[in-house]
Amino acid sequence: CRIRRYNFKVVTKNYTRLCSSKPIVTVNGGFPGPTLYAREDDTVIVRVVNHVSYNVSIHWHGVRQLRSGWADGPAYITQCPIPPGQNYVYNFTLTGQRGTLLWHAHILWLRATVHGAIVILPKRGVPYPFPKPHQEVVVVLAEWWKSNVEDVINEALKSGLAPNVSDAHTINGRPGPLTNCSRQGGFNLQVESGKTYLLRIINAALNEELFFKIAGHKLTIVEVDATYVKPFETETIVIAPGQTTNALLTAGKGSGSYMVAASPFNDAPIAVDNNTATATLSYTGTQSNNPTLLTSPPPRNATPIANNFISSLRSLNSRTYPAKVPLTVNHDLLFTIGLGINPCPTCIPANGSRVVGDVNNVTFVMPTTALLQAHYFNISGVFTDDFPGHPPHTFNYTGSPPSNMQTKTGTKVYRVPYNSTVQLVLQDTGIIAPESHPIHLHGFNFFIVGRGIGNYDPKKDPKAFNLVDPVERNTLAVPSGGWTAIRFQADNPGVWFLHCHFEVHTTWGLKMAFVVDNGKGPNESLLPPPKDLPTC
Ligand code: C2O
Repeated sequence: CRIRRYNFKVVTKNYTRLCSSKPIVTVNGGFPGPTLYAREDDTVIVRVVNHVSYNVSIHWHGVRQLRSGWADGPAYITQCPIPPGQNYVYNFTLTGQRGTLLWHAHILWLRATVHGAIVILPKRGVPYPFPKPHQEVVVVLAEWWKSNVEDVINEALKSGLAPNVSDAHTINGRPGPLTNCSRQGGFNLQVESGKTYLLRIINAALNEELFFKIAGHKLTIVEVDATYVKPFETETIVIAPGQTTNALLTAGKGSGSYMVAASPFNDAPIAVDNNTATATLSYTGTQSNNPTLLTSPPPRNATPIANNFISSLRSLNSRTYPAKVPLTVNHDLLFTIGLGINPCPTCIPANGSRVVGDVNNVTFVMPTTALLQAHYFNISGVFTDDFPGHPPHTFNYTGSPPSNMQTKTGTKVYRVPYNSTVQLVLQDTGIIAPESHPIHLHGFNFFIVGRGIGNYDPKKDPKAFNLVDPVERNTLAVPSGGWTAIRFQADNPGVWFLHCHFEVHTTWGLKMAFVVDNGKGPNESLLPPPKDLPTC
């Protein structure tokens, strides 16, 4: 294995999209930012220098960070942010992982434009468990707002209401040739007949789950969230913010150019950005990058298409890549997730109330000292470890709004011993409206052992759990008005954030953290913090 060094300069750059220009925060001037390449077991050293006026931090989404929590990146959870003019070196090893992940800013809403791909190739000489592609292509899906993204969320926080949705979706930074006022055209994937391509698709959007589709071509899914899956064919991919999907595409005997589409999936009665981002897939010899063969994106509420895709995902579970599903459960947890309403006397348009996010009726309050520092140095008063493992009162989670729409606020964590096994059922409550929440857990991969609609039944539902080849991920979409059960082994000491990867819901407090204590063995404790760790 090797050491891979990168320099990430966080700088402001002017971009023109949708016929207007604005300065955006970027890494090295890119939207999307640079792709980080490494091999399994390599050590990655990224020097991040902050040249903008915001505090920044960078998260390596899906990287396990075994014992290296100091490099995980969420501001005020594992580190204090990097102030303007300062820098911090992220140093971590990609233990036992290969595939596509993403990096993104993990403070404020900066990840709207501060994001990029992580490509982890297998160890040298180790083949993919699928046919070797002729070429690999990174496809980053995101959003574009005409206004300053920080203004969008700040206005929403002042009013107590939901923020404006984005003005366009983007594929590799561009809304695409079929968007009015997108003169720059779009991303073009040039292919040759008979050749196979590996698409590394990333949803870097803040607030939208997306469908992805290519006219006239099927995709073979081989990997999600940097874990291999049993290959299957599909016309449409559904991908939540923070998720990644590797798909093989075989160019047929075609000619001409075909439309590539990314469009919203959301079956809740809320506002979404209904724009479809487009790109083109053109066969060699085709001049135009205006697609001639079009495809229509699924309707935004096409839940059956999404369910069909999600239920097709299975771990590869081969001899080389076995699914190591925990078969016993030490901590059996049930978290309701959703939105509530709390008083806000200054919120005038919202009638003195504001929307909040919650997990088990706790709205998480960001500390002013990083939790990992408080944990490691035993600083008291930063967090309490009384996060409830079950809802404070049982109710019909998916029924009409119950009387407990208000939440408690606090910086509460759930503490587990090293190497214990956790089963966590995430139950959508639909307190305001049922909605699919993309939940991300830092520091671990988990197995999705069960999923259903309605209220989770602890007597009946576990009997149908898949403990053989469930898909392994770091981010999952809990179905609206339903639940998902995951299992993971707490083999990574530190403080690990769990939150909705809709940035608006995280901002509102739909987040919590696990603390995993050190084990007793020589390699079972968190490493000491690096010398340049920023202070708060
Ligand atoms: Cu991709 Cu905590 O985030």
